[in-house]
This record gives sequence, structure tokens and C-alpha cells, in this order.
Amino acid sequence: MRLSNKVALITGGGSGIGKASCLLFAREGAKVVVVDLKKDTAEATAKEIGGNARAFAADVSKAKDAQAMIAFAEKSFGRLDIVFNNAGVFHPKDESVTDTPEDIWDMVIDINLKGVFLGCQYAIPALLRAGGGSIINTASFVAIIGAAAPQIAYTASKGGVLAMTREIAVEFARKNIRANALCPGPVETPLLAELLADPARRQRRLVHIPMGRFARAEEIANAALFLASDESSYVNGATFLVDGGITAAYITPE
Ligand SMILES: NC(=O)c1ccc[n+]([C@@H]2O[C@H](COP(=O)([O-])OP(=O)(O)OC[C@H]3O[C@@H](n4cnc5c(N)ncnc54)[C@H](O)[C@@H]3O)[C@@H](O)[C@H]2O)c1
Repeated sequence: MRLSNKVALITGGGSGIGKASCLLFAREGAKVVVVDLKKDTAEATAKEIGGNARAFAADVSKAKDAQAMIAFAEKSFGRLDIVFNNAGVFHPKDESVTDTPEDIWDMVIDINLKGVFLGCQYAIPALLRAGGGSIINTASFVAIIGAAAPQIAYTASKGGVLAMTREIAVEFARKNIRANALCPGPVETPLLAELLADPARRQRRLVHIPMGRFARAEEIANAALFLASDESSYVNGATFLVDGGITAAYITPE
């Protein structure tokens, strides 16, 4: 098993990529702390895993919650080796720079960017106490390329996660901590469900994906597993794209 004797904390573990990662990490031998804003969904994921998982309700954008989730992980399993700062939101009113309301900007940046900052701020001392570890921060392919179907706060938050993760990777490299930014392409999860339910908006996006389909949450979880495990021992500060070739494409196949 690829994560034997490791303790992992995954935020947004009640749904989508986070849930798929909790289940996969546990199958690979990790003890898993499932964190989500929604207590019932975190508990459902932990229940599906069984004895090697604990659920914890936290809002990652609140410092006291971020601190408490890390303390809970160490208290529950005695150490912390892996933190996957995956929780994130996408808001329908987050659109063009000229239209997005300030409160939507603040909310998205608070969760998607400050939430990752706080997750790292409180996780790093715990990882150091364990002798090192792996940080995986979820950015997105939109941190790399722009879109004429805009979501300005979301894109800015993910660009921030990417840059912040590089800096963390460099600062802690000699302390046995690796940090990588996972950049998924569009994935069929509840986050995009409303948008992708509209056939026109779905097709507008599909045409730019060389593989001609969206990702499944499990495909992103597999990449997170690699970054979490010792197999990626020399991968640090990476912009880890799992995007079906979107960012490589100019003209896609017909
Ligand atoms: N789905 C995609 O196409 C896609 C593409 C690129 C990046 N991402 C990123 O992947 C991550 C996971 O997305 P997903 O598609 O699995 O979404 P999802 O909506 O299925 O799951 C996100 C989870 O995060 C939780 N969450 C939201 N706000 C929170 C908060 N403040 N504190 C704690 N938990 C909170 C939600 O309750 C939910 O369970 C996000 O960071 C997202 O931006 C998703």
C-alpha cells in the first residue's frame, strides 16, 4: 500500500475530489481526517471508510477552525504527514471583473485562497513535528490560462494558490516538506453540476478539451495520491496539471 503508516487530512472531504481522495487514501493505508464545512457529509465519508477515518466540521476560511482541525488530526492519530487543502467554492455571481459584486469576491478569496493559507499555516508546524510531509494545494487549470467565460474571483484565488504553494515549497524544502499545486481541468463534481447541466455551456467548454470529455473525481484523486506518497519524493513546487491536455492545446481534434 502506498500510504501505509501515514496520517492525511483532506479538506472538502464530503464531496467530489475531496471525497474520492479520502476513500482512495484510506484504501492505500492512510488514516484519514475528513474535514468539511458540512458536518453530515464529512461524517458520511468517514463512515464509508470505517475505523481508519475521523470526521471534523470546519470552515477553512476561519483561523480557529483551521487550527482546530490540525489539532484534531494530531490528537486522533498522533501525527500528521499529509495535508490536502482541497476545499473550494465556485459562485454563479462570480463572473466578469466588471460585474462581480465585492462580497462575492471576498467570499471566494476567503475560502479558496485564505483557506489554503490557513491550512498551510497550521499544518506546517504539525508536519515538522512528524519529521516532514507532503502538502497538496488545489489550484486549477484556470490559474494557467484565461477564459472568455469568466469567473474572476475564482481565477484570482487559484492563481494565488499556485504562487503561494511555490513559495512554501521553496521555503520548507530543506525541512523535508514538499508542497505542490494540483491543477485539475474541469471535473464532473457537484461544484460544476449546475453549469454543466446547461447543454450550451457544457459544449462551450468541451470543445476546448483535447480528450473530448470532463475528468472524473477519481482521476484527480489518483494524482493527489501520487503527490501525497513517497513516490513523488523529488516532486516539489510543481504546477501539477491534470487537465486532459487543455493547456497544451491550440486547435483540438474535430
Ligand atoms: N470540479 C472542477 O471542475 C474543478 C476544477 C479545478 C479545480 N477544482 C477545485 O477542486 C476542489 C474540489 O472541488 P470539487 O469539484 O470536488 O467541489 P465539490 O463542491 O464537489 O466539493 C467541495 C467541498 O468543499 C466543501 N467546502 C466548501 N467551502 C468550505 C469551507 N469554507 N470549509 C470547509 N469545506 C468547505 C464543500 O462543502 C464540499 O464538500 C476545489 O478547490 C475546486 O476549486 C475543481
